Amino acid sequence: MQIQLDNTPLTAAAGDWLIVGIPETGAWSNQLTALNQALGGQLTRLHEAQDLTGKLGDVVALRDVPGIKAKRLLLVGLGKTDELDEGQLFGVLTTAARHISTKKTDRVAVSIPSVPDASSGRDTLVRVVEIAAIAMQVGCVGQDIYRGEKKRFTFERVDLLVEPDQNSLELQAALDAGAIVGDAVNLTRELVNLPAKVVYPETFADRAVALAKAYGLKCEVLDQPALEQEKMGSLLAVAAGSDRPPRLVCLEYNGAKPGAPVLGLIGKGVTFDSGGLSIKSNDNMLTMKCDMAGAATVLASVVAIARLKLPVHVVGLMGLVENMTGGSAMKLGDVLTARSGVTIEVQNTDAEGRLVLADVLDYAISRGAQYLIDLATLTGACVVALGEEIVGAMTNNQEWCDALLDASEKTGEDVWQLPMHDHFDKLIESDVADIRNIGGKWGGAITAAKFLERFVKDKPWVHLDIAGPAFASSDKPHREGGGTGVMVRTLVEVAREFATRK
Ligand code: BES
Ligand code: MN
Ligand code: ZN
Repeated sequence: MQIQLDNTPLTAAAGDWLIVGIPETGAWSNQLTALNQALGGQLTRLHEAQDLTGKLGDVVALRDVPGIKAKRLLLVGLGKTDELDEGQLFGVLTTAARHISTKKTDRVAVSIPSVPDASSGRDTLVRVVEIAAIAMQVGCVGQDIYRGEKKRFTFERVDLLVEPDQNSLELQAALDAGAIVGDAVNLTRELVNLPAKVVYPETFADRAVALAKAYGLKCEVLDQPALEQEKMGSLLAVAAGSDRPPRLVCLEYNGAKPGAPVLGLIGKGVTFDSGGLSIKSNDNMLTMKCDMAGAATVLASVVAIARLKLPVHVVGLMGLVENMTGGSAMKLGDVLTARSGVTIEVQNTDAEGRLVLADVLDYAISRGAQYLIDLATLTGACVVALGEEIVGAMTNNQEWCDALLDASEKTGEDVWQLPMHDHFDKLIESDVADIRNIGGKWGGAITAAKFLERFVKDKPWVHLDIAGPAFASSDKPHREGGGTGVMVRTLVEVAREFATRK
């Protein structure tokens, strides 16, 4: 997809489609008023007949519209524009892209919606351009990898229509950034959507190496002997039940001044979670190719941060294993010794993500990571607590968590913090080891986080449980089912802010 800025007036924009945002309340932009005039007041008539409401995400498609050059017109509701946030705008624009990407399309023009916040007008427009570029890419990709008859087609070319005086270097930079971040979201989705037969620890690591090479990042891959050398007894125990050997990928990008703090992104990369001997039911296992979404998010985000040349120092660590039931699989009652020396009693082999992360978090700190964020499809309990659309955040440091929450507020990716009271620590005590790998019956998302907390030393750390939002069970107008790429946009935002941290 080739995306560019364009000063052409709406009526003169060529292409298969012209996408135009319609506010539900509030004044129409000059562009929209001019379009309405060119259409002989058709928009007003549609509005009066309540066929064009402008309600958030409402779509009206018109064909053979006299008065405009584009072949078809797609009107998409922006809702109450004084309330429109970036998350909603992203949803509206992906809805529009998804509406028309069901057919082969050569060229699409997008009218950048009028800027809601006049006081910071310029800055907002920059964000709108970036979001539009991301949304056009994300909305054109589905789950078609293995379908003979494709359901989605990427537009050849997209023109983002802006006013003549708005075509600046700043906007071009925003567009370029959006193209990079859109790529990253789609990369995460692709890796999550590919089956475990294709994406397993070795192939995931190969992909990381190739990307690192393409974009000039440092990349180190630890294989089984290296992991043994590092005494990663906890991660290795999960890998033991599979014929696929584990890998740990360590990506590094340093665009910061010497002495800058190091951001550590850590991802759970269980390329398939059968549950191990505590085997899952068919229903619960069905989507477990998604259990490497944390690692995919880390890979894509670090690549994006490097491509954006952000002035930060970041390390991305991905713990890659398959959780299977082979003859050497870990057993209930086994006691593992993690890299940090902490001993762990295995009471449920399906609580494997925390076993992987225990060693990867510990290793991340010895690799110099100072501010940690881990991402993991860790617990069904988090989905019970927050539903399928909201990421759970848990932390040992409120200030660092607030930085993450602020970034998510900006991107509109919903995150909700769960508490970490001391009494939850009791629930992971073991009679025979330092800790056990499950908690009690309740508060499963939190006890999992409490387990991880044992491995982060005194470093500021945020744990993101993405078990719900990382993988969507079905299509919605604004997003395809399958891998979603959730948190990529937020992590990029965190990195942008991190650049200002002393
Ligand atoms: N990968 C799963 C969690 C999960 C559930 C991810 C649903 C995505 C959707 C994780 O490894 C797991 O099995 N967790 C167990 C923990 C339990 C045994 C303490 C769970 O949530 O049931
Ligand atoms: Mn599991
Ligand atoms: Zn898992």
